[in-house]
Amino acid sequence: MAHLIAPSVLAADFANIQRDFEMINRSNADWFHIDVMDGVFVPNISFGMPVISAMKKHAKKPLDVHLMIVNPDQYISTFKNIGADILTVHYEACSHLHRTLQAIKAEGMKAGVALNPHTPIHLLEDIIHDIDLVCIMSVNPGFGGQSFIEHTYKKVKELKSLINKNETSTLIEIDGGVNINNAKALIDTGADVLVAGSFVFKSENPELTIQELKAV
Ligand code: DX5
Ligand code: ZN
Repeated sequence: MAHLIAPSVLAADFANIQRDFEMINRSNADWFHIDVMDGVFVPNISFGMPVISAMKKHAKKPLDVHLMIVNPDQYISTFKNIGADILTVHYEACSHLHRTLQAIKAEGMKAGVALNPHTPIHLLEDIIHDIDLVCIMSVNPGFGGQSFIEHTYKKVKELKSLINKNETSTLIEIDGGVNINNAKALIDTGADVLVAGSFVFKSENPELTIQELKAV
């Protein structure tokens, strides 16, 4: 499968969100990556439901919603209603992860699990069959523009072999510090989806940058 590119709109210009969404619609990007932060699970607050509803009106590609929030269960149907296509919860935020994933799928969304940099891959051994996408955090969640953690490659390798061993079609997504210098190595190691925020939006020509990330 050709790899997918999901620009993180956290780095977009919120005063020109329609313009930036139209750019992503025109580009080679595959998904919109939408970061929801609650100021409790992570030390930052991003945006919530009304903003995502407004974004959805301009999005012609799937919304990949990354919840960095505690108690995600209570909002699953709300995120479905405002247009999420993929809903990713944090392993560290879910006491009953199996139940949470079933609830996401029951709403007709793809179910993702994100792992913080300190959370080992082997914790997914008994749940990998139920996961459509694993988001390996390659920075500590909460902020865009941080440096990529090199240990991520080892986790991608381990996850790839867990997926192969279990013969699941789980996608591997990498989130944080992705740029043109690490994109190819990540794909070669087994990544399927690259999230990129500041590398895309702070570049001179974001549409071309997306094309370059897609072409690695
Ligand atoms: C971090 C977010 C990321 C972030 C990536 O908490 O989950 O999606 O927006 O931004 P960059 O690509 O700038 O590291
Ligand atoms: Zn994210």
